[in-house]
Amino acid sequence: MSKKQILVLGLESSCDETAAAVVTADRRILSNVVLSQTDAHAPFGGVVPEIAARAHVAQMDRLVDQAMRQANIGYDDLSAVAATAGPGLIGGVLVGLMTAKAIAAVADVPLIGVNHLEGHALTVRLTDDIAFPYLLLLVSGGHSQLLVVEAVGKYRRLGTTIDDAVGEAFDKTAKMLGLGFPGGPAVERAAATGNPDRFDLPRPMKGREGCNFSFSGLKTAVRRAREKLGDTASAQDIADLAASFQKAAVDSLMDRVRHALEIFAEDYPDSRHLVIAGGVAANQYLRDQLDDLAQSCGYDLTVPPPSLCTDNGAMIAWAGVERLNLGLTDPLDLAARARWPLDADADPAPFAGYKA
Ligand code: KG4
Ligand code: ZN
Repeated sequence: MSKKQILVLGLESSCDETAAAVVTADRRILSNVVLSQTDAHAPFGGVVPEIAARAHVAQMDRLVDQAMRQANIGYDDLSAVAATAGPGLIGGVLVGLMTAKAIAAVADVPLIGVNHLEGHALTVRLTDDIAFPYLLLLVSGGHSQLLVVEAVGKYRRLGTTIDDAVGEAFDKTAKMLGLGFPGGPAVERAAATGNPDRFDLPRPMKGREGCNFSFSGLKTAVRRAREKLGDTASAQDIADLAASFQKAAVDSLMDRVRHALEIFAEDYPDSRHLVIAGGVAANQYLRDQLDDLAQSCGYDLTVPPPSLCTDNGAMIAWAGVERLNLGLTDPLDLAARARWPLDADADPAPFAGYKA
C-alpha cells in the first residue's frame, strides 16, 4: 500500500476492552479488533482495575498484530499511531499509550494521545460525516454528559453527572437484580418482558434547571424496591423492576436533553444535529425515545452502530485522523491522565470525580 494514503492505527485500553483498529482519512475502517474482558470481571460484578490492566498487558500486542494483518498493511504504511491517553483506569491507559509510543518510535511516525471522550464524540464524523457543531449526549459506564461539539478539541459542556454515570446505574441495577455483567444489555433484555409502570421510581433532576444528571438516588430506590420484594421475588417481579428502572433512567435523560436542546437551539441556530455516543447508546429504548424527542424539536438524531458506540479502537484511530489533519501530534513523553475533562472551562462537579 502506498504511503500517500493516510492510515492511522488506534489503540484503546482505558476500561475493560482491549482494542486496536486501522482507519483511513477517507472514513474506511480497515480493521477493528475488540477483545472484551467481560468473563474476567463477571465474577466480581464490575470492572476490577488490576485485572483489567494485566489483561491489557497480556493481549495488546496480539491485538495490534491482528489489526495490522486484517488491514493488510505494514508498520511502514502508517501515517500515525493514536492511543487513548485518558481519562480512565490508569493502569490500562498506560498499556495502550506505552505500546503506541513504542510503535511510533520504531516506525518513526507521529504519536497522537486521544481523550477517550473525544473518541466517542467524533465517531459520528467517521460513520456519518456530520458537520460541526452538534449536540452530543455521551452516555457510558464512566460518563453522562451533554456536550456541544464545536470543533476537534473544542467542547462546551452543558451538563454532567453530579454522582453516578447512567451506565454505572444500569450495571449496579443488574447486579442488585442478579442479572449478570455487563449490566446494560442484561437490564434491557429483562426489561423487554417487564411492566415499566409497576414500580414508582424517582426521575432524578427532572424539572430542575440546567442539564446536569444524577443517578445515585434512582439506584437507591431500586435497591429498596428489590429488598421489599424479598427472597421470593419471581422472574416477572425482576423483569418489572428492570423495566421500571430503564424507563425512569431514560425519562430523566430525556428531560435533561430537552433542556440542552433549548440552549443549543438558541446558541447554535444553524445546526439541526443531535448525536448519541457511548455504550448506553446501544440501548434501543433510549434510541427510540430520543428519536421521538429529536423529531418533535425539529432535529435529526444520528447514532453510530452499536459496535462503534461501545469502546473500540476505530473511534480512537478516527480521532487520530482528525487530529493529524490539524497537525495536532504529541511528544513521546506524553503523560497518561486518569482525569481529563473535555471542557476544561466547565464548572467542577466535585462528587463525580473523573466522570466529570
Ligand atoms: O462506552 P462503554 O463501552 O465504556 C465506557 O467508556 O464506560 O460503555 C459501557 C457501558 C456499561 O455501563 C454498559 O452496561 C452500558 O454501557 N451498556 C448499556 C447497553 N449496552 C452497554 N446500557 C444500557 N443498555 C444497553 N443495551
Ligand atoms: Zn467509552
